[in-house]
Amino acid sequence: MARVMCIASGKGGTGKTTIAANLGVALSKMGRETIVLDADITLANLELILGMEGLPVTLQNVLAGEAEISEAIYNGPAGVKVIPAGISLEGLRKANPDRLEDVLYTLLDMAEFIILDAPAGLEKSVIVALAASDEVLLVVNPEIASITDALKTKYVAEKLGARTLGIVVNRVTRLSVEIAKKEIETILEGRVLAVIPEDSEVRKAAAFGQPVVLRNPKCSASKAIYELAGKIAGVEVKVEEEGRGFRRLLSFFRRR
Ligand SMILES: Nc1ncnc2c1ncn2[C@@H]1O[C@H](COP(=O)(O)OP(=O)(O)OP(=O)(O)O)[C@@H](O)[C@H]1O
Ligand SMILES: [Mg+2]
Repeated sequence: MARVMCIASGKGGTGKTTIAANLGVALSKMGRETIVLDADITLANLELILGMEGLPVTLQNVLAGEAEISEAIYNGPAGVKVIPAGISLEGLRKANPDRLEDVLYTLLDMAEFIILDAPAGLEKSVIVALAASDEVLLVVNPEIASITDALKTKYVAEKLGARTLGIVVNRVTRLSVEIAKKEIETILEGRVLAVIPEDSEVRKAAAFGQPVVLRNPKCSASKAIYELAGKIAGVEVKVEEEGRGFRRLLSFFRRR
């Protein structure tokens, strides 16, 4: 039975899609069956980040009752399964977001993790994604507007029955104006599972339609994402330096 995790933030542009895509790839690389679903049927971005744009059947078609979910599942990088949202305006008009929960139900036996990339805001499509999830991972930037929006999202998620798995602080630059991890944990009453630095490799990878965790697994953002994946999967991830060059060693030891 899959764990259904929603990547949400309230505020736009905090890094939800980046983290959903790369976390999915990292889990998949660890040998864990993972599906990443783009729940943003208005502004689908997941397929762009994964270099998978232009797929024929999308979640829009499924939510419109025109296709089965099995037709909208594609093999992505490192074996992650990807369900794209679709970008057609006509498709958007026909799609019924309320169908999402039923659609997810049919996926529960197909993977260990189902990651939903939620849209920004707290509109209907976010509510539907949160309601369909067991857990929510809050992605914040170290600034007050992002954190207050995440707090609203957390309250809504909990009302809808999704427990807070933890917080990811993304785009951290260590400027003195940034809110510290401890304060974020106090405000959001949750545990910070990952601190991901601002890293130009993330944007470069996105521009090439490649997950950064594959394109540059040794960059600081990738390391933080692999460690996050390890925490979520309950395995220890070691990213080590070796010799003179930087060689990536990922060792996965099952925790008891
Ligand atoms: N750690 C990082 N370092 C540098 N750039 C980053 C990092 N994380 C995300 N970005 C960049 O920030 C921008 C927004 O990221 P992303 O699309 O993942 O955010 P989002 O929360 O999904 O946005 P939206 O709310 O619009 O769905 C992208 O250009 C992405 O490449
Ligand atoms: Mg997004």
